[in-house]
Amino acid sequence: MLMKWFEEWFDSEYYHLLYKNRDHQEAEEFINNLLEEIDLDSGAYILDLACGKGRHSRYLASLGYKVLGVDLSENSIKEAKQFESENLKFEVRDMRAPFTEDAFDLVLNLFTSFGYFDDKKDNYKVLNAIETMMNEDGYFVIDFMNVEKVIRTLVEKEQKEIDGVLFDITREVKDGFIVKNIKVIDGEKVYNFQEKVQALTIDNFKEMIAKTDLVVDNFYGNYNLDIFDADTSDRLIIVGTKW
Ligand SMILES: C[S@@+](CC[C@H](N)C(=O)[O-])C[C@H]1O[C@@H](n2cnc3c(N)ncnc32)[C@H](O)[C@@H]1O
Repeated sequence: MLMKWFEEWFDSEYYHLLYKNRDHQEAEEFINNLLEEIDLDSGAYILDLACGKGRHSRYLASLGYKVLGVDLSENSIKEAKQFESENLKFEVRDMRAPFTEDAFDLVLNLFTSFGYFDDKKDNYKVLNAIETMMNEDGYFVIDFMNVEKVIRTLVEKEQKEIDGVLFDITREVKDGFIVKNIKVIDGEKVYNFQEKVQALTIDNFKEMIAKTDLVVDNFYGNYNLDIFDADTSDRLIIVGTKW
C-alpha cells in the first residue's frame, strides 16, 4: 500500500537534517517556560505524543519526571530508545488511538504534530486520545503553527543546502492544507517528499475543542509563552485541562 506522506517524510534522515536547528536548546527553553505555567507534581507522569527522537521527553526525564514518548516513526523511536532509563521510555504508537486511560498528568503534542490526516475526523481521534489518556487533573499542550501568519508570509520557493544536501522547497496553500514539496538532492540521489498540514486557525481549534471534554486555559503565541496574537505570533500553543 502507498505510504502516507507523514509515514515517509518523518521516518527519513532528511527530515531530521532539514529541521536540525529545532534542537534540544529550543526544547529545553520551551519546557522550562511551560513548567512555570502549569502546576505539576515532581512525580508527574508525562506523555509526549508524536515525540520524534524525544528531545522534549529526554529533557523532562532529566528533570526527574516519569516520561513516555510515542511516535509512529520506527526510526525515530529506535534512536530515542538509546536514551531510555528507569523514568524514560519510548514506544512506536499511532497518536489516533489511546492505549491507556486516565494515566497522565500532562499530555504533550509538540512542534506541529497535529492536522496531518486527510480525514478531518482524525483530528477528533487525536483530541479524544489526548483526553482519554489524561487523568482528571491532567493538562494537555498542543503546539501548532500560527497558520494565519504562515499563510501571510508564505515563501513559495526556497533552496537550502545543509551538510552538502540540497533541499529544493516549494510551498502552497491548497484545499485547506499548507503543502510543502521537498525535493532532496543528495549527490547522485534525488528524493521527493511532501509535508501536508491542515491550515487550522485558532477558531478551528476552538470549534474542535468545544466538541470534546477538553477545556482551553490559554492560547500562547511563542515558546516564551507570550499571549497569542494572530498577526504577530509564530506559534499557536494551546494549554488546557479537561472538564
Ligand atoms: C514535526 S514532528 C515533531 C516531533 C517532536 N514532537 C519534536 O518536537 O521534535 C512530527 C512527528 O509526528 C509523528 N507522527 C506523524 N503521524 C503520527 C501518528 N499518526 N502517530 C504518532 N506520531 C505521528 C512523526 O513521525 C514526527 O515524529
